[in-house]
Amino acid sequence: MTLEVIDFFCGSGGFSEGFRQQGFKIIKGIDNWNPAIQTHNLNHGLDDRVSDVLDFEKSIDSINKLKNTEIIIGSPPCVTFSMSNRAGKADKSLGVRLIEAYLRVVAVKKHQPKSILKAWLMENVPNSRNFVREFYTFDDLDLGDWAKTIGKESGDIALRVKNNGGFFIAADYGSPQSRERFICGEIVRTGDFPEPQITHSKKSDIFNHQVYKTLGEIKRFMPSPFEFLIDGEWKDPNYPGLILIGNTLTDHFYDTGLYQVEWEKAKFAKVNHPYMGKMSFPEDENKPSRTIMATRSASTREAIIFKSEYSRNGDGEYRLPTIREIATLMGFPYNYQFFGSEGTKWRLIGNAVCPHMSAALAKAIRRDLGLGVIEEKEVDFTSLNENHEKVNNLNSPTKKTQFNAPPKKNIGAKFRMHPFKSGNMTVALTNFDPINGSNPHTNGKNWFCVLYLGSGKIYDAIPVSKTLFRDVEKIVSSFSEFEQIKNEFSDKIINNVGSFDDLQYVFEKNVGEIDRVGNPVKIIENVSEIINNCLFKIDETCTIRLDGIKKTNFHKKQLLAIWMISQIVYSNNPSRIKNNKKIVQPSII
Ligand SMILES: C[S@@+](CC[C@H](N)C(=O)[O-])C[C@H]1O[C@@H](n2cnc3c(N)ncnc32)[C@H](O)[C@@H]1O
Repeated sequence: MTLEVIDFFCGSGGFSEGFRQQGFKIIKGIDNWNPAIQTHNLNHGLDDRVSDVLDFEKSIDSINKLKNTEIIIGSPPCVTFSMSNRAGKADKSLGVRLIEAYLRVVAVKKHQPKSILKAWLMENVPNSRNFVREFYTFDDLDLGDWAKTIGKESGDIALRVKNNGGFFIAADYGSPQSRERFICGEIVRTGDFPEPQITHSKKSDIFNHQVYKTLGEIKRFMPSPFEFLIDGEWKDPNYPGLILIGNTLTDHFYDTGLYQVEWEKAKFAKVNHPYMGKMSFPEDENKPSRTIMATRSASTREAIIFKSEYSRNGDGEYRLPTIREIATLMGFPYNYQFFGSEGTKWRLIGNAVCPHMSAALAKAIRRDLGLGVIEEKEVDFTSLNENHEKVNNLNSPTKKTQFNAPPKKNIGAKFRMHPFKSGNMTVALTNFDPINGSNPHTNGKNWFCVLYLGSGKIYDAIPVSKTLFRDVEKIVSSFSEFEQIKNEFSDKIINNVGSFDDLQYVFEKNVGEIDRVGNPVKIIENVSEIINNCLFKIDETCTIRLDGIKKTNFHKKQLLAIWMISQIVYSNNPSRIKNNKKIVQPSII
């Protein structure tokens, strides 16, 4: 028996794909974003138009018009949630409204006379569990009057949600990704959640689980993006029976090399965050991939960054994953195609349910309905084979040799960066006053050395005054290696620092002097390097009293950071730089 499925908030169809692999027939996808519907249509042989799930809030008619299916699945977007969840619609956040609009459809399809619904599921981010109820009555779903027409009371329970499911990690079900999600639902006949069977774990164990697939295993199994070959044979690391030839492996053979300014920023955010834990840079390949986010980012903590196979230093030394790599790390088969630009494809993929997770749920439903399970080797991918010709293939056989159009920032973009954290404090160079704040148009007109004292999100921010700078200078100039440090600081940093305007300009345009020495990101890295290379024990402390600061015990390296960054701020002389023509190359702006 082939069971039919409607996929609400279908996106590119990760949820659908797991069910397809388990022999279910996807008959409709609902999404209000065109690239999602186009992608879902292409991969599942459908012809749907964009539509809005909120339309099902309005009338029962619209729900009745939807074809009845045995299965309903849905993964509402993780847009805003808020604690306010009272009865009136106006009080609900969009996230809660979308969940309830979906549950309303499920409730009607479950309780309508002659219902054929056998199972339903809802998937969302873990935090969404805080915003769903243990159960929903017909009244809660605005179905009070309708309930009476089918012989029920408006206060009767229509659906159990919060405890009918739990948190699940995709890697436990064979996905090469550690994505965690809240999933709930039921087998209608029993009211029980179709518990998926764990197949993988961190280490081999008594349950005969396979060991997690790691990021490195997947990456090494795939061809390098620089093998711009058209006649290779590419075996899918997730589905070994699926083999593609040459350019039919789309969205993979192109250069995703990053500008140095981008990867350096990501590196700093990962290894040197003021209050969050240290992360690997580049990615740790010995574990499943971290969660692929919906937004393609190159310079944040969330960015997934690999060392490039193409040997370059600085610009291009590191790269982002290709679209095919992230699709494979989600568990999409090699011949699954995505519409749109690189950014759109990334969003479609990062939004999806991992197909392995979805297939495990589909298998559990088959088991609970007494249907045979479809083994992986029996899964058929041929229906997807010709689709590569219908999408914009990102493959492009040119290596980036010139990195001459770095991503620009907004005019007035804020800057705050510290060379390291130690002793419960950071010393940062900023282009905004942390106490008075500054509006974006004034950022960059003034730069500050700021002490951030404390941990977590609660801290004191103290701009270093000229007097405080001079007090610290007296102390650091007595350090044994001060002369040497001072010379290195002059050579590497202070002689190359531009005026405040120049600093802002170089930062916004992501350019700088040769080797970007005048770029504030590079300046802070150089400060970090000089201090961390000092010979004296860097965590040694000094007990001193500084004007306006309660703390009296300072790591020597922090005092050096105060001295260096204040020096940058207080010796900043606009005329010096302009006279020496130390400003960036206008040709690349
Ligand atoms: C988490 S994603 C779904 C991912 C999908 N299940 C998959 O596995 O690929 C949420 C989707 O909801 C869609 N969406 C957001 N608001 C919507 C609305 N009001 N009506 C229909 N779709 C909506 C978004 O365009 C997005 O594709």
